[in-house]
Amino acid sequence: MKQRGEKISMLTAYDYSSAKIIDGAGIDVILVGDSASNVMAGNMTTLPITLDQMIYHAKSVMKATRRALVVVDLPFGSYQGNSKEALTSAIRIMKESHAEAVKMEGGAEIRESVERILCAGIPVMGHLGLTPQSINKFGTYSVRARHKEEAEKLIADAKLLEEIGCFAIVLEKIPAELAAEVSRQLTIPTIGIGAGGGTDGQVLVMHDMLGINQGFSPRFLRRYADLASVMHDAVGRYIEDVKSGDFPSPEESY
Ligand code: KIV
Repeated sequence: MKQRGEKISMLTAYDYSSAKIIDGAGIDVILVGDSASNVMAGNMTTLPITLDQMIYHAKSVMKATRRALVVVDLPFGSYQGNSKEALTSAIRIMKESHAEAVKMEGGAEIRESVERILCAGIPVMGHLGLTPQSINKFGTYSVRARHKEEAEKLIADAKLLEEIGCFAIVLEKIPAELAAEVSRQLTIPTIGIGAGGGTDGQVLVMHDMLGINQGFSPRFLRRYADLASVMHDAVGRYIEDVKSGDFPSPEESY
């Protein structure tokens, strides 16, 4: 798709019913993101979600997906220890969920783990820029790599990930010009979130773009629906109908 100049669309999904809808709508890639920790489990960060929980979400998504490529996040703590542990975690995801690839946050620091997973025949998507699993090191979710030194490291990491065999890289919350430059320098596709229009594809968290998660409004987010209001209104009308005795009607009864 990058060679053809066709942009890649990617969205997150964590369950059977939503994966069925977004796969049916024609999305190119579904990411079973560790953002499930935030939007599904209500945690403040992505750190608490476990490998077992990621596999549970990935299995549900795989049952619904007919067309899209499904990529699953290796969660915090499942690959940072050592490369053997990383490989064991990636193998569990592939064997138990039947997904097609894993995603890992970081560059040179995780090189050995990425290489070992790739050697086992598991495709790896990289993730650079704002890497939410390192939030306690960064201290904020603000834009990364604004300064020369961090931008140079990001370019070097992106080239390294391409060289060792990653098939794509997510670039999160970095200046648009830097993301465009990285995308020009790589032959593998970049998928941006908060990284401007110069990347080879875009990813958003499904709950954010559908307006289910209303408490999150960063500048990069475009809302395509207001499902929280739709759901709130529908539930309100249901409550009214139950209280008034209007539901169920004779036609809705046996
Ligand atoms: O977990 C996630 O949803 C992600 C995207 C924000 C890229 O990693």
